[in-house]
Amino acid sequence: MTIRSKIVGTGMGVPEHVVTNHDLEKLMDTSDEWIRQRSGIAERRHIREGERPSELAERASRRALDAAGLEPGDLDGIVLATLSSEHDFPGTSFFLHRRLGVPEIPCFDLRAQCSGFLYALATADAYIRAGMMRRVLVVGCEVHSTGLDLTTRGRNVSVLFGDGAGAVIVEANPDPEDRAGVLAVRMHAQGEHAERLWIEAPGSGSYPLRITAEQVAAGRHFPQMEGRFVFKHAVTRMPEVLRETLDAAGVKQDDVSWFLLHQANLRINEFVAQAMGIPPEKCPSNIERFGNCSAASIPMLLDEGARAGRLEPGQLIALAAFGSGFTWASAILRW
Ligand code: ACO
Repeated sequence: MTIRSKIVGTGMGVPEHVVTNHDLEKLMDTSDEWIRQRSGIAERRHIREGERPSELAERASRRALDAAGLEPGDLDGIVLATLSSEHDFPGTSFFLHRRLGVPEIPCFDLRAQCSGFLYALATADAYIRAGMMRRVLVVGCEVHSTGLDLTTRGRNVSVLFGDGAGAVIVEANPDPEDRAGVLAVRMHAQGEHAERLWIEAPGSGSYPLRITAEQVAAGRHFPQMEGRFVFKHAVTRMPEVLRETLDAAGVKQDDVSWFLLHQANLRINEFVAQAMGIPPEKCPSNIERFGNCSAASIPMLLDEGARAGRLEPGQLIALAAFGSGFTWASAILRW
């Protein structure tokens, strides 16, 4: 009997503190017009002192559990995707594990940057298909704001990112009559371009210490991005992997109701939709309100769609992301 995995609950958690483009104008030489025109972003959320990534992850996870009618004790495992771990080690998932008060189930962090949620979904799907787990909490969680250079020096990157978490419960669906589930997932990476979008330090690649005063003075603990290079690759790789995953799932592009694309930049997604002939109304976005929340952006979109009643049972949904690494991935779901 083939076991398929399906999403049975979604949730999200974002900080309350809203930072508008006009707020950023007070910190750096930028403008609302520049940010909106280049990225589509109007505002994003930043944590306040005392708020923690695992707190956002907990909020998203509890909402996903509630939506599924489950308790933390019903879970068999937790996979949390992040590029902004709460501490160097252990990963954010362990702090989430404690907050949820789950029994001694396995948990781990997964690092695939903006494609992290799709890599984590693929992992949960594989565990479920292999019969190792029945119910997995998959979380994308980022706190970017404490790692951004919020001065003019860092404006090409810092205006783009926001804080947030999204979560889904993935469950075994052994019912052959129920067609809902993850139909196909495909993942790729190209380490050749690792330094095109990265944070150099702190890291064990720096010697003799993981971070030095010189690195801090040079701002090498802030993200560095070759924006145009990233843009060019994102708009090529996302259509490629979407087509590959549609083929693998045996699904026609026109039969897909929703394309939920990673929220890196509205222009990237407009480009992808146009290149593939996808009607823009099939590509909802939330980047206007939340900026780029990396691994959290796709589960946040799923949660917004599910709660608004846009995602209807039986619909086909395509997910795709591109990010640092480089990484890119896609999944086709039947809701
Ligand atoms: N406000 C005002 N001016 C700015 C800002 C800012 N926040 N940032 C950069 N500028 C200036 C630059 O200094 C430059 O000025 P100059 O012409 O005097 O030198 C000018 O604007 C143009 O800068 P570019 O970097 O060439 O701008 P570009 O048109 O490439 O747009 C952007 C930048 C929006 C980052 C674009 O390259 C992009 O979208 N790249 C994709 C990368 C992306 O979205 N990354 C997100 C993370 S990765 C991921 O999740 C996939």
